[in-house]
Amino acid sequence: MRTYLVTGGAGFIGSNYIHYMFKKYGDEIRIINVDVLTYAGNLENLKEVEDRKNYTFIKADICDKDAIAKIFAENDIDRVVHFAAESHVDRSIRNPEVFVNTNVMGTAVMLNCAKAAWENEDGTYKEDKKFLHVSTDEVYGSLPDDETAFFYETSPIDPHSPYSASKASSDMLVKAYIDTYKFPANITNCSNNYGPYQFPEKLIPLIINNALQGKKLPVYGDGKNVRDWLYVEDHAKAIDMVQEKGKLGERYNIGGHNEKQNIEIIEIILDTLQEMLPEGDSRKELVSRDLITYVEDRKGHDRRYAIAPDKIKEEIGWYPETMFKDGIKLTIKWFFENEDWMKNVTSGDYQKYYAEMYK
Ligand code: NAD
Ligand code: TYD
Repeated sequence: MRTYLVTGGAGFIGSNYIHYMFKKYGDEIRIINVDVLTYAGNLENLKEVEDRKNYTFIKADICDKDAIAKIFAENDIDRVVHFAAESHVDRSIRNPEVFVNTNVMGTAVMLNCAKAAWENEDGTYKEDKKFLHVSTDEVYGSLPDDETAFFYETSPIDPHSPYSASKASSDMLVKAYIDTYKFPANITNCSNNYGPYQFPEKLIPLIINNALQGKKLPVYGDGKNVRDWLYVEDHAKAIDMVQEKGKLGERYNIGGHNEKQNIEIIEIILDTLQEMLPEGDSRKELVSRDLITYVEDRKGHDRRYAIAPDKIKEEIGWYPETMFKDGIKLTIKWFFENEDWMKNVTSGDYQKYYAEMYK
C-alpha cells in the first residue's frame, strides 16, 4: 500500500486534497497528515476521515527536524505532498519572519528528511519515491493589464510580497535539490483557489461571510486587481495527476483560465447569494451592493495574475473542469450547509477541537 505524507493537511487546500484522495483511492492508500495546527489549521475539516484505519494525524512542526526525521524513520513514505506554509499575503506584510521560517526553513527540513530516508548509498533513490512541492503563481510577480500576457513555467521569478518571496525561495530550494542531488521532486505553481473549508481571511469566504451578516465588504484599492480563480478540487486533482503522470524534476503551472477583477468576484457573489437564499430568509435583505466599501490599497499589491496551463494540459491531460459559475454555487452551498464551521472559525472555537478530539 502506498503511503503519503501530507504536510499542512488541516488547512484549506490540504484538507480538500485529503478528501479528494480518499474519494479516489479509498483503502488503496494510506495518508499521514502532519500539521502543527496554526490559526489556519482546523481538524474539523477532516472529521469525516479521522476514523479511517488508513489515516493518521500527527501534530508536528515541519521546522522540527527530529520530529520529521522520526516520521520518516517509522514509516515507509512513498509520496510527500508538501502544503504546509504560512499562506496569507496581508499577514506576511505585517510579520514576514514567520513566513521565512515556515516556508523556507520548513521546506528545507522536509527536503533533507525525505532525501535522507530515500537515498541509496550510491546517490540513487529507492524506487518510486516522489516529493511534490505545492506553490503559487505569485512567485512570478505581477502582469500588466494586458489580456495576452500570461505566466509560463519559463517566466522570470519576480516575487513582491514577503509571502511570495518566501514561496519563491522554497521553490528554488526544491529546484536546487533536483539539480544537485537528482532528488525526485516536482513543483506546482497554482493560481488562487476557492471552495469549501477556506479560512475567511481570504477574499471569497470573507465576502460570503460578511455579506450574509450585512457587514462591510472591504475592497482594496480600485478593486480592479485581477486574480485567476480555480475550484480547489480541480487543484487537488492536478496535484495527483502531476505526481503520477508528470516528469520528475519539472515545474507545472496550474490555473483556471478564469481571470476576474476583485470587484467582479464580489458582484458575482452578491448576485449568487441573492439567487440562492430562499424567499423569506432574513439574510436576503442584508446582502446588498451598498456594503461594498473601498479601503486603502494593500502595500505592493500585485495587479494581475494569469496562468497559462498549456504544459500541464499537453503533457498530463489536466484541465480545469469546474466553471466559476458552478464552483461559486458549490462553495456558497457548502457555506450554507456548514454554518457551524464558520461560527467555530470566527469565534476561535475550532482550536478547541484538537484538545477534545485527541485528548
Ligand atoms: P492554509 O493557510 O489554509 O493552510 C496551511 C496549513 O499549514 C495549516 O493547516 C497550518 O496549520 C499548516 N502549517 C503552517 N505552518 C506549519 C508548520 N510550521 N508545520 C506544520 N504545519 C504548518 O493554506 P492553503 O491555502 O491551504 O495553502 C496550502 C499551500 O498551497 C501553501 O503552500 C500555499 O502557498 C499553496 N497555495 C495556496 C493557494 C491558495 O489560493 N490558497 C494557491 C496556490 C498555492
Ligand atoms: P487574497 O484572497 O488575500 O489572495 P491573494 O492576495 O493571495 O491573491 O486576495 C485576493 C484579492 O482580493 C487580492 O487582490 C486582494 C483582494 N482583497 C480585497 O480587495 N479585500 C479583502 O478583504 C481581501 C482579503 C482581499
